[in-house]
Amino acid sequence: MASSIFSSPLLLLFLSCATNSTPVTSSEQGNDYLISCRLASHVAVEKQSHFRFYWHDTLSGPNPTAVQVVQTPATIKSSTFFGDVVIIDDPLTTRPDVNSKLVGRAQGFYTGSGLKKIEFLLAMNFVFTDGKYNGSTIAIFGHDEVLSPVREMPIVGGSGLFRFARGYVQARTYSVDWKTGDAVVQYDVFVNHY
Ligand SMILES: *[C@@H]1O[C@H](CO)[C@@H](O)[C@H](O)[C@H]1NC(C)=O
Repeated sequence: MASSIFSSPLLLLFLSCATNSTPVTSSEQGNDYLISCRLASHVAVEKQSHFRFYWHDTLSGPNPTAVQVVQTPATIKSSTFFGDVVIIDDPLTTRPDVNSKLVGRAQGFYTGSGLKKIEFLLAMNFVFTDGKYNGSTIAIFGHDEVLSPVREMPIVGGSGLFRFARGYVQARTYSVDWKTGDAVVQYDVFVNHY
């Protein structure tokens, strides 16, 4: 139907670029900072991948992968870790066993961001090192209320095979050592990409 075609986002994109489907050069556009503009929706179809792997956050022992870098008198007093900053380079594996197959690493940090509750701001990249995903990354930036059974956090972007990534992750604690804080967390990653 003509009305549905004319209201589609595809057509809006088409019209905002050019009057035909060939890429437009900057001179045609009349400005010198737009290098090209083309119909992105025809380039590829977006797919959704679901990955599941395990995130190993180890603070204790001789080889910690999570290191606290900020602590002040206020953070020491806080019962909710408010203001703590922990930098991570945590292995991601296919099974809860840390010696199972390595998929990549989670690099970034988390910081206590709840004054009254144990809540963290978690900012990290999943840096893949395995197979066809080797070198590709997924960026996550979200609210991690670690004591709740499922934490959902946004995927805000990606690189390599995950260019233009969007989506979300769901984190579920698999095991935790309350003395040391060492934890294994199951991550289900739902990522839209091309
Ligand atoms: C991943 O890519 C790096 C750099 O290209 C390479 O050195 C490494 O061997 C690759 N790893 C795997 C498991 O393919």
